[in-house]
Amino acid sequence: MKFDLEIWRQNDGEGPGGFIRYQVEDISPDTSFLEMLDILNENLTSRGDDPVAFDSDCREGICGMCSLVINGEAHGPKRATTTCQLYMRHFDDGASITIEPWRSRAFPVVRDLAVDRSAFDRIMRAGGYVTVHSGPKPDPNDIPVDPAITEKAIDAATCIGCGACVAACPNGAAMLYTAAKVSHLSLLPQGQPERYERVQKMVDRMEKEGFGSCRNYGECEAQCPKEISIDFIGRMNRDLLRASVLEPIDLRGDMETQ
Ligand code: SF4
Ligand code: FES
Repeated sequence: MKFDLEIWRQNDGEGPGGFIRYQVEDISPDTSFLEMLDILNENLTSRGDDPVAFDSDCREGICGMCSLVINGEAHGPKRATTTCQLYMRHFDDGASITIEPWRSRAFPVVRDLAVDRSAFDRIMRAGGYVTVHSGPKPDPNDIPVDPAITEKAIDAATCIGCGACVAACPNGAAMLYTAAKVSHLSLLPQGQPERYERVQKMVDRMEKEGFGSCRNYGECEAQCPKEISIDFIGRMNRDLLRASVLEPIDLRGDMETQ
């Protein structure tokens, strides 16, 4: 197979960027999308050009590092699929493919297709933890949990922190990510001690990081590779409302540097 690639190139977040056209040929249909970019980079390097910078790690859909907007869609055209799980057989032979970085004020471009997603880490640091009991390991069935609740918590915990929800949202909102992280802890008994403090701190940090506001477009859910439900946003908003009545905290002094 062969493809015409339009790839966003940008030296750093300060300077301007633009699309550069490349061609790749003799690509097997079973080549993954990232392997196809590896082949392009080998070609570029062998003729003395700079390779295209992009992020990846596990290449099996679990780490959340791969982050490309492909033909205008975060993680490309295949539903519930990360960029690293996309194969060239999912495209027509001879197709033109546009490849861009996540575009969000809160995810500045580092170089080419790689962006800085440390804003997500700071949201997690604000409250994405539970009180740790460091004594002997408790018996597994000490605290019975309704299987339906466990299932829901696991659904939320499948969020891999990739940021596609932000890239897909016309407002660049991070509500789906934050709601998934808040919910997987607040659904379980272990997450109850910090429940109301957590939601206030994580939402506050999200707002301070410069993400846009949620307008219920639903693009986040549609392009999330783990199919995290938008219902978690409603759940987080209800917890936030309860928290403001039951345990309001003063966050004006929270000045963690960005
Ligand atoms: S909610 Fe979905 S799209 Fe957003 S970070 Fe988690 S896995 Fe990625
Ligand atoms: S590289 Fe880990 S999810 Fe894609």
